[in-house]
Amino acid sequence: MKVTQAELVISAVSAKQYPQEALPEIALAGRSNVGKSSFINKLINRKNLARTSSKPGKTQTLNFYRINKQFFFVDLPGYGYAKVSKTERERWGRFIEEYLTTREQLQLICHLVDIRHQPTKDDQTMADWLNHMDLPRLVVATKADKIPKGKIHQHLKIIKETLQLDKDVPLIAFSAETGQGKDEVWQALNPYILP
Ligand code: GTP
Ligand code: MG
Repeated sequence: MKVTQAELVISAVSAKQYPQEALPEIALAGRSNVGKSSFINKLINRKNLARTSSKPGKTQTLNFYRINKQFFFVDLPGYGYAKVSKTERERWGRFIEEYLTTREQLQLICHLVDIRHQPTKDDQTMADWLNHMDLPRLVVATKADKIPKGKIHQHLKIIKETLQLDKDVPLIAFSAETGQGKDEVWQALNPYILP
């Protein structure tokens, strides 16, 4: 897809603030610092539209990015960030869950995990939850530039096994540094956003 227009429409802190438009939405879920905001930027060729940070916990709201007036990327707050209080984490958890379970426009969830490590407990909890949800899903293994090319297959296998992914869940190695996997990701997204 050729992206000609991309804008942050709202950083929502409550469901009342979600955009009114009936455009399809693709949500990005994943651990804090896994590369959700970088993923959006790479896909749409913008350096820093979605704010990224080397410090985890940068994205703390539901950020709706409207792309080509055609669909939204919804950047969710990262989970598993230890430095916020338990109350705060629970509040985010409920907020994210509310969005994922009630939002009619939601078409696809991109679950991002770090390709370098075995998925964390939080990743597994998220995957279990998604395994039980009846929503199309894509798993993206980020930071693929950080491991040798020859190891990618082996790391994907560990992710697939740990998250107990069904055969029909696409799993794509991706790098926001090099653009690896970008075309494959777009191909996976296209059926959900084309009018
Ligand atoms: P939160 O907003 O805190 O939930 O984080 P996030 O998931 O949005 O992560 P973000 O995109 O801000 O990236 C976190 C850090 O990882 C930044 O320093 C990025 O530059 C780096 N990063 C993200 N993707 C990649 C990648 O594919 N390769 C490499 N080498 N670094 C990456
Ligand atoms: Mg972010």
